[in-house]
Amino acid sequence: MTIKDTVKEKYAEAALKVLGGEKGRCGPVSDNLYDTSEKSGLPEGAVLASLGCGNPTALADLHEGEVVLDLGSGGGIDVLLSAKRVGAKGKAYGLDMTDEMLALARANQAKAGATNVEFLKGEIENIPLPSAAVDVIISNCVINLSADKSRVLKEAFRVLRPNGRFAVSDVVCRGEIPDAVRRSMELWVGCIAGALEEKEYERLLREAGFTDISIEPTRVYEFTDAGIDDVLAREISGRVMGAFIRASKPALR
Ligand SMILES: C[S@@+](CC[C@H](N)C(=O)[O-])C[C@H]1O[C@@H](n2cnc3c(N)ncnc32)[C@H](O)[C@@H]1O
Repeated sequence: MTIKDTVKEKYAEAALKVLGGEKGRCGPVSDNLYDTSEKSGLPEGAVLASLGCGNPTALADLHEGEVVLDLGSGGGIDVLLSAKRVGAKGKAYGLDMTDEMLALARANQAKAGATNVEFLKGEIENIPLPSAAVDVIISNCVINLSADKSRVLKEAFRVLRPNGRFAVSDVVCRGEIPDAVRRSMELWVGCIAGALEEKEYERLLREAGFTDISIEPTRVYEFTDAGIDDVLAREISGRVMGAFIRASKPALR
């Protein structure tokens, strides 16, 4: 099985759980990300399905009329929040490869009555949109899951308009993570083991063409209750972070 198949299977399972009324979970990282006023305006299924590690829409500074694309949109929480911020003249796209997640997201869209929203099926390594089609790329705890992050960042750059913004929440690590963790598919899907080292993230963004790059830690994880081996937990403690990653596509000259 490839990493992609494993990720798909895991998130299909998570989507079906939420459709059955249970809460989704992404390792130890996805609690209390949204404030009550944000959650209260959304269908319960979108809130239950939240599997992110940050709140990119709160940090992305979205404006009316903008076009936003959420990479790995899951149950759609950040797409629905973005849609409110960009208003009727704007548009919010969600992109996900897992059919069950798309079904859940579309059900949540219907419940929310959001008309400026479209969920697309596809892979973030191969974004099904033309070049220079969006103003802002957001994403919440997804890029770490990709086995080809360089390609994801190049695709993000391609679909952004000149002056477009990349405003993403993701898990990053500081320094090398032990091989035992890297090898653990379970942790990978739990949003930890695929995390890029922060300097490597910056390097790949620069290589893709981005400028004004910043990586700002929003939470540092302690793994005492994460259900992983104590020795490993101690080793990675304090070195795995939820971060907000910002970058821009330069203007045309
Ligand atoms: C950790 S969940 C995050 C979902 C959502 N962003 C949120 O905050 O709730 C990861 C989502 O990304 C999707 N995903 C993972 N890898 C992907 C890929 N390579 N292409 C498209 N979607 C992907 C999964 O299907 C899943 O819905």
